[in-house]
Amino acid sequence: MIYLKTDEEIELMRESNLLVGMTLGEMAKWIVPGITTLKLDKIAEEFIRDNGAIPGFLGYAGYPNTLCISVNEVIVHGIPNSYALREGDVVSIDCGVVKNGFNGDSAYTFCVGEVAPEVEQLLKTTKESLYLGIEHAVEGKRIGDIGHAVQTYCEARGYSVVRELCGHGVGKKLHEEPNVPNYGRPGTGPLLKNGMCIAIEPMINLGSRNIVIERDGWTTRTRDRKPSAHFEHTVAIKGGKADILSSFEYIEQVLGEKSI
Ligand code: MF3
Ligand code: CO
Repeated sequence: MIYLKTDEEIELMRESNLLVGMTLGEMAKWIVPGITTLKLDKIAEEFIRDNGAIPGFLGYAGYPNTLCISVNEVIVHGIPNSYALREGDVVSIDCGVVKNGFNGDSAYTFCVGEVAPEVEQLLKTTKESLYLGIEHAVEGKRIGDIGHAVQTYCEARGYSVVRELCGHGVGKKLHEEPNVPNYGRPGTGPLLKNGMCIAIEPMINLGSRNIVIERDGWTTRTRDRKPSAHFEHTVAIKGGKADILSSFEYIEQVLGEKSI
């Protein structure tokens, strides 16, 4: 069952997602060589609570932290720990909050200092593919149109698309219907309608698409241990068009000319 949101509910979703964007903006200030991923998690949790919300991932299906922090070959769902970031790492930070009963959900992959040019290009392409997917998140198109746009763009550039993990509907629950794969055929899948809110989150690998889930049950990495990138926006379909509810503006304000 796909829950359609009213305009008022979409505004509440925007509030939640704005706080996610601000939290990611805070993270951008702290991402430097030497900081541990657990320290980033604690800063984010405090920031979210200070802003009158609760972390959306903490306790979700038993997830132990506020953020998913996924370094280099970790695709998604990295659990914050004592690892200290190093120059040249790429780090996906995925953040969720619940505010006024609605979830916000967004992710960005950051560079720690200078990274290898081929890895920076992977990040750029993944981010571009997210926006290409969003262009199809309009009334009358179908879920498969979004995935097709992401897949064709990334594969044409020699990257691979993770299949086992997808975007999703989002609202009062973090994961609602429909599933939003990052691959697909045009004109297939659920029809997009006004009031739908979906998280679109391409997970794109430099090497092969194969994944391994570590024994902790969460950490998901590439089988070949080559790097992976992940960008996510929550998007509402409103007035026939895509309305991006989350925001990278706070991040990119902090990163300035270092933005990818
Ligand atoms: N953005 C991710 C997702 O939508 C994060 C979920 S982590 C979890 O799947 F712990 F909350 F599951
Ligand atoms: Co998500």
